[in-house]
Amino acid sequence: MRHATLRQLKVFESVARNLSFTRAAEELHLSQPTVSIQIKQLSAIAGLPLLEQIGKRLFLTEAGRELLKVCQGIFEGLSRFEMLVSDMQGVKAGKLSLAVITTAKYFVPRLLGPFCKRYPGIDVSLKVHNRERVLQSMIDNEDDLYVLGQPPEHLEVVLEPFLENPLVVLAARSHPLAGKKNIPLARLAQEPFLMREPGSGTRLATERFFGERGLKLKVRMELGSNEATKQAVVGGLGIAVLSAHTLALERSSDELAFLDVEGFPIRRHWYVAYPKEKQPTVVALAFLDFLREESKLLGEKYLQGITGFPALARGKKRGK
Ligand code: PGA
Repeated sequence: MRHATLRQLKVFESVARNLSFTRAAEELHLSQPTVSIQIKQLSAIAGLPLLEQIGKRLFLTEAGRELLKVCQGIFEGLSRFEMLVSDMQGVKAGKLSLAVITTAKYFVPRLLGPFCKRYPGIDVSLKVHNRERVLQSMIDNEDDLYVLGQPPEHLEVVLEPFLENPLVVLAARSHPLAGKKNIPLARLAQEPFLMREPGSGTRLATERFFGERGLKLKVRMELGSNEATKQAVVGGLGIAVLSAHTLALERSSDELAFLDVEGFPIRRHWYVAYPKEKQPTVVALAFLDFLREESKLLGEKYLQGITGFPALARGKKRGK
């Protein structure tokens, strides 16, 4: 493989990631025949086919999968080196790729404005997924930093809590339990529940909370997003446990009520994390510093800004 050029590897990485010659050609601003020639030459150098076409779909061969990993390592190393050089020159520049869970999308994007203003040379990409998908991105080493709602169970990570992410019980304003004080948990469990999809961290924490107290929930409907869940609550389909942050942009707070339930809010944090064996780039370190500073300044004020949010300062350390 020593005769392969960086350009051929770059073309291969793009084809392998997109599993498409056309998309790779578009991404690299090359013609499709040029892409095909580069891949043919690279396969000849490797001595084995790297891709195979079955019907209309393109697949990586085993050799192709291995070469993709090698390419990712090379390009990650080069980009790390570029960032290091910029840092030595006194400018923070490079790429920052973040993957965050759904509830963090209400807070993290707000930080990106001032961050990009402070470091105009940094290009940020932000992906929003549920917990399961964020954990998968971490396993696949796709991003620089990850924001989660609870620590991963089976991965070795460097983890730092940075802001409270409480889970609250929401009902329609007209719900008979709205306005009642200290509703017993067992009473709540009799209500029809609207639940996020499997793989959601919110769902996991809710099921765990009720399960540990010997209660089973009556799930009326599963919904794939926080927004859809809130709308179904407003529509009177049931109650839901969601992060208080999902109400940050809420205009219809007169249609939703927080229920005062025994054991709630469930106190949690957001965590910023990266795999233990990963060496964070200088740009990732700059973002971590920024996150520490800003979440301290903005965090409390931000939660208080959510209309009608039940003060966590009730002082009772309850839940997990
Ligand atoms: P989720 O995570 O989007 O996977 O439910 C949110 C959270 O854990 O706060």
